[in-house]
Amino acid sequence: MAENTFLAGDANWWRQAVVYQIYPRSFKDSNADGLGDIPGITSKMAYLSHLGIDAVWLSPFYPSALADGGYDVDDYRNIDPRLGTLADFDDMVDAAHSADIRVFVDIVPNHSSNRHAWFKDALAAAPGSPERARYIFRDGKGVMGEIPPSDWPSHFGPTAWTRITEADGELGQWYLHLFAPEQPDFNWDNPEIIEDFKTTLRFWADRGVDGFRVDVAHALKKDMSEPLPSVTSFAMENIPLDGSNPLFDRDDVHEIYRGWRKVFNEYDPPRVAVAEAWVPAERRPQYARADELGQAFNFDLLGAPWSAKKFHHTIEFNIHLASKSKSSSTWVLSNHDVVRHATRYGLPKKVDFDKWLMSDGKVPELDLQQGLSRARAATMLIMALPGSTYIYQGEELGLFEVANIHDADLQDPMWLRGGKTRKGRDGCRVPLPWTKAGSSFGFGEGPSHLPQPAWFPAYAVEFEESQSGSTLKMYREMIHLRTQLQGAETLEWVHSRSKVVHFMRPGGWHSITNFGKKAVKLPAGNVMISSGPLLDGKLPANTTAWVTEHGVE
Ligand code: NOJ
Repeated sequence: MAENTFLAGDANWWRQAVVYQIYPRSFKDSNADGLGDIPGITSKMAYLSHLGIDAVWLSPFYPSALADGGYDVDDYRNIDPRLGTLADFDDMVDAAHSADIRVFVDIVPNHSSNRHAWFKDALAAAPGSPERARYIFRDGKGVMGEIPPSDWPSHFGPTAWTRITEADGELGQWYLHLFAPEQPDFNWDNPEIIEDFKTTLRFWADRGVDGFRVDVAHALKKDMSEPLPSVTSFAMENIPLDGSNPLFDRDDVHEIYRGWRKVFNEYDPPRVAVAEAWVPAERRPQYARADELGQAFNFDLLGAPWSAKKFHHTIEFNIHLASKSKSSSTWVLSNHDVVRHATRYGLPKKVDFDKWLMSDGKVPELDLQQGLSRARAATMLIMALPGSTYIYQGEELGLFEVANIHDADLQDPMWLRGGKTRKGRDGCRVPLPWTKAGSSFGFGEGPSHLPQPAWFPAYAVEFEESQSGSTLKMYREMIHLRTQLQGAETLEWVHSRSKVVHFMRPGGWHSITNFGKKAVKLPAGNVMISSGPLLDGKLPANTTAWVTEHGVE
């Protein structure tokens, strides 16, 4: 293992960090096989450092058949050979740490892949065996066991149960998978699973990993007592506040994370974690408690429309929620699971994104200019908030969703398993354009695993480097300013017109966003940066400005 793997320092570094999410297969390909890889990430460390981010979070890079973009893990303590080796990983962590960038990895504890050694053992073993007890197997109902054990759906549709063929060649038991059939759910009532995940956490923490993003953190514990209750929808509205949903957000899931915290605290500085927990907001602070994961994603702005009132309310509420667990909030506008925010803001309110994608992005028409100005303004707004900010690769280029990927090229299980009625998430996972021309626009020397659109050159890193006012230049300047300005985790609201969100951070740092149509006056002081040009000294529609009462060094 490489030596220089630890980044010492402040144990609270994460509280107001800017974390850049890398979707490794689509970031940078170093060996012309069409898939981004770990050496590709290392080769772009100077780019990441220039952005001024504090940390990167890598979506899964483990061996995987990619039935769900790598969230189907064959081996939790290894690297997909197509993406590199453990030595490449160590080099990447070293390069990141030398650039003062911390590294988060994605831990996927709810399910493995069906190619995991334990799942293969489970299939080969008999019903009731210890091998089967690592997953969730049940006999079917009906005379021949031909009916699934319950009516539970899967996230990718249609059912959460798949029947297996037993070693003797006969149809046999069913196993549970809340996601694709290639993602069997672990049985977290089994102490062996609990221990094994601690080993995995230590494996990566020992290699210098600073933090963990915890996939579907709210689903690990299930109430499997017979008779299995009916659950016909996974909609969030069906998750009550008392922890009584059979599959999600059960109270006993927190026991697991208290155990993980002890592992994190074996390290100096303690390793950190952030929960992906789709639970009612009021329940989120539990995951973020200091003796558990420490932080939880707040996705509320992802779903919020372009409205001053909604933004104001969401921000206020989440700062309050974070304070309940003494954590800091997290702000997210894009990730690998949602339509990119430049596109969301360029479409009319209440549009159904699934339907829009099914029209290849044609109906309704996307307003590119509105989308990008609002996206830049919204990002500048969240960058001024107390707490940590997660940005997703490509948003610093102002990328839009790629909406017209041909059906034959789509990879998302949402498309493949959902009766081809929802295109899913591939449109935000298209490999990045680094150069204006050349094979896969500098992503690699060969083709890219998802096709790139003809409009990419105008969003390529190389192009934006040469353009004043480009989104890339704005992100760099904004993140550097934020680092200089960031102080105590407090915010003071400034009374403003109804279509404006205006707050002040310590040190006289004002952030003002105009959600309305008419340009508005800015407060007295120096305009440090704005997300678009000002209009006769005023703040136009769809724009954010940071104003300081004092100068910045
Ligand atoms: C959440 C991940 O972000 C998503 O991409 C994945 O499909 C599911 N969890 C299942 O692991």
